[in-house]
Amino acid sequence: MTTSNHLLTLEGVQTHIGAYHILHGVDLVVPKGQLTMLLGRNGAGKTTTLRTIMGLWQASKGRVHFNGKDITALRTPEIAALGIAYVPETMGIFADLTVKENMLLAARAAKNADAIDDTRLKWIFQLFPAVEKFWNHPAGKLSGGQKQMLAVSRAIVEPRELLIIDEPSKGLAPVMINNMIDAFAELKRSGVTLLLVEQNIHFAQRLGDSVAVMDNGRVVHSGAMAAFSADTQLQQSLLGLAL
Ligand SMILES: Nc1ncnc2c1ncn2[C@@H]1O[C@H](COP(=O)(O)OP(=O)(O)O)[C@@H](O)[C@H]1O
Ligand SMILES: [Mg+2]
Repeated sequence: MTTSNHLLTLEGVQTHIGAYHILHGVDLVVPKGQLTMLLGRNGAGKTTTLRTIMGLWQASKGRVHFNGKDITALRTPEIAALGIAYVPETMGIFADLTVKENMLLAARAAKNADAIDDTRLKWIFQLFPAVEKFWNHPAGKLSGGQKQMLAVSRAIVEPRELLIIDEPSKGLAPVMINNMIDAFAELKRSGVTLLLVEQNIHFAQRLGDSVAVMDNGRVVHSGAMAAFSADTQLQQSLLGLAL
């Protein structure tokens, strides 16, 4: 399964959280250079899958490969250092710090704003104008959508090969969703591979190249987004009321 056009592969991944058996054998491929949408009802195991990829939960069975390397047993900092950024649903930004300070903390190498690569910072400002606009404001004062944009900006402050984001469109106003869609499309053009968990089916269909649908701790459907988009019956049976 670990072929060269798959940047990330999960094979038979099982995860237990304490006494609970949450993932029952997840098979997932993330094609290089594409945007893959991970869908599924609440409680299907999407967040647990992302956390297992990042080593925040340890897989009890199965393998996770990134760029052909077995990362199943690596620690989270080692996994991140391979070029994977993860934005959790909670976003992980520091409310009391300014936007600038949040960005600096994310740039491991940078000791001051001048040390963040200038071209890269300008590119991020173009993707997310709110980050520039509120540069010296406390992050806690930003709207939900602006916080989400800061969280993604932090994730890409250094070049990454794979960007994993849990529910980026959650609670966003339509104008923010459009900004987010444009930004992800641009990120993809720049060569970044993306894996997004999404509840908003319209957002998912507009952006996704590939789709994987989870149910009860397994991937129960995967393939091209175009085919999935065209099959409303399949969507209904897999996502039901989530639509
Ligand atoms: N820390 C935890 N302890 C116990 N059960 C958990 C924990 N986190 C998630 N679960 C359970 O695992 C299942 C999958 O959760 P999750 O991966 O968050 O689903 P999704 O992101 O698809 O909504 C759910 O039944 C949830 O209740
Ligand atoms: Mg979740």
